[in-house]
Amino acid sequence: MKYVNDFSVAIAEQLEGVLSEEDIKSIIEVPKFDQQGDLAFPCFVLAKKLKRSPVEIAQQLADQVHYPGFEKVVADGPYVNGFLNKQMVSRDVLTTVMTQDEEYGSYDFGKDHNIVIDFSSPNIAKPFSMGHLRSTVIGNSLAKIADKCGYSVVKVNHLGDWGTQFGKLIVAYKLWGDDDKIQADPIKELLELYVKFHEEAEKYHELESKAREWFSKLEAGDKEALNLWEWFKGESLKEFSKIYQLLNVEFDSYQGEAFYNDLMDETIEKLHQNGLVTTSEGAEVVNLDEYQLPPCLLRKSDGATLYATRDLTAAMYRYKTYQFEKSIYVVGHEQSLHFNQLKSVLEKGEYSWAEKLTHVPFGFILKDGKKMSTRKGKVVLLEQVIEDAIRMAKENIEDKNSNLQDKDEVAKMVGIGAIIFHDLKNERTSNVEFSLDDMLRFEGSTGPYVQYTHARAKSILRKSEVKSDTSGIEGLTDDYSWPVIKSIEKFPQIIVKAFEYYEPSQIAKYLIDLSRDFNKYYANVKILNDDEQLESRIALVRSVTIVLKEGLRLLGIKAPDNM
Ligand code: ARG
Repeated sequence: MKYVNDFSVAIAEQLEGVLSEEDIKSIIEVPKFDQQGDLAFPCFVLAKKLKRSPVEIAQQLADQVHYPGFEKVVADGPYVNGFLNKQMVSRDVLTTVMTQDEEYGSYDFGKDHNIVIDFSSPNIAKPFSMGHLRSTVIGNSLAKIADKCGYSVVKVNHLGDWGTQFGKLIVAYKLWGDDDKIQADPIKELLELYVKFHEEAEKYHELESKAREWFSKLEAGDKEALNLWEWFKGESLKEFSKIYQLLNVEFDSYQGEAFYNDLMDETIEKLHQNGLVTTSEGAEVVNLDEYQLPPCLLRKSDGATLYATRDLTAAMYRYKTYQFEKSIYVVGHEQSLHFNQLKSVLEKGEYSWAEKLTHVPFGFILKDGKKMSTRKGKVVLLEQVIEDAIRMAKENIEDKNSNLQDKDEVAKMVGIGAIIFHDLKNERTSNVEFSLDDMLRFEGSTGPYVQYTHARAKSILRKSEVKSDTSGIEGLTDDYSWPVIKSIEKFPQIIVKAFEYYEPSQIAKYLIDLSRDFNKYYANVKILNDDEQLESRIALVRSVTIVLKEGLRLLGIKAPDNM
């Protein structure tokens, strides 16, 4: 809060260097209860330094501190409590938000820096899992937050489009595949082929060696193998892009694992030159004992490279291409070991930029307490889930506002917004229990609740004749507007926090709080009453719409004007 600065300056003036402004700033707290003011300075540290009683010091300071930004400054035991001048602060905050509009809360500390965000990254010929959904939603939000902080963001979809599974798939396809079926429902068919391969391979072991053969052919650039692989990939991507379209997510690069094939030898060669590679039974590995980690396997004895080799290569390629300031991987916590190894190999190889890599992990999506799985044919088709959410949102809207225009468009925003918000409202490392009923409620901590609050505020604006200009803003002094003002004032700091911790939940939680405060205001204050504070009240409503809409946008959620 910028007023923390003001308060510490005012206190520092009285202390003549006993404590620095910085120290004072770090000591100042935001009191729990409104009656204790807006800011509090506890006097314990000072008391220790001066060898005097904190209560006495608080009393003395309270008498001396004067600052026009404060209505009053009073002692409360060992605390000095400052009460901000509501009129002045609210005028200030509302004018700022209305002037800056959607730029409110933007920063430029990321200017001239690149940040690479690797997210979503589903596997070709496999279903888009719940884990990929989480990665997509979290990564997309982090990209928007980073952009809001001024960074140039490179959004990378590191497709899982290479690996021995393609050998298996080709064998299965050649034995049991049906082109028409694959065309009609590629992901489902390809998954079934894959599952069938594993079932049959238990009986007929030679299938495994056949699969290895076909993968070798693929790696060697065999025409037939390549054509099949490309076909599988194209069909899968068509399916994935439906999901991305629904979620409104775009990428700057789809360079997946296969992209790095030609660069793999170079990577392994470099690591050899750095003296990192040892050979054990024909395989090339990097020993990571000193990091208390299992060795990182680079190349198997049959010459095949691995997921880790491709990630090492991708990291080097990305650093060369983007000179990133940060490179983050939004991937479930079950891959923590992999990313630890990745970073450690680069560190061991003295790549100074290794420290710029960050794994941003997240928990599982649960259904009735159990991990939602997409393996072994038990596919929860994500598209279906999304369509259900949209249908349920539409039913809710029919109930609430049956005359609404563009019902389908709004239902889409609400249904999808509900899924995204539900995912982002908890700290990302916690598991999420998946319940369509819960996430679609219009009350409680849900996306629709925030969207509804925004639409309600918009409808007030439609009813008012006050123009959106700032000259008539005198400020507000009542008790219901004050929490709303303070909340609006906090938005820019929330964004920095969300960025620093890679935690969109900071913003989601904030939006719930702001919505609650605003709805209380709405229930208790006659906003459209024609008196001299009308313009300030309208400015407050307008500012709320600006912040809610921008906050939702940072989560990847749309805010309908009407719902
Ligand atoms: N395709 C992988 C999976 O589904 C995720 C890839 C994440 N990104 C990366 N650079 N490793 O498990």
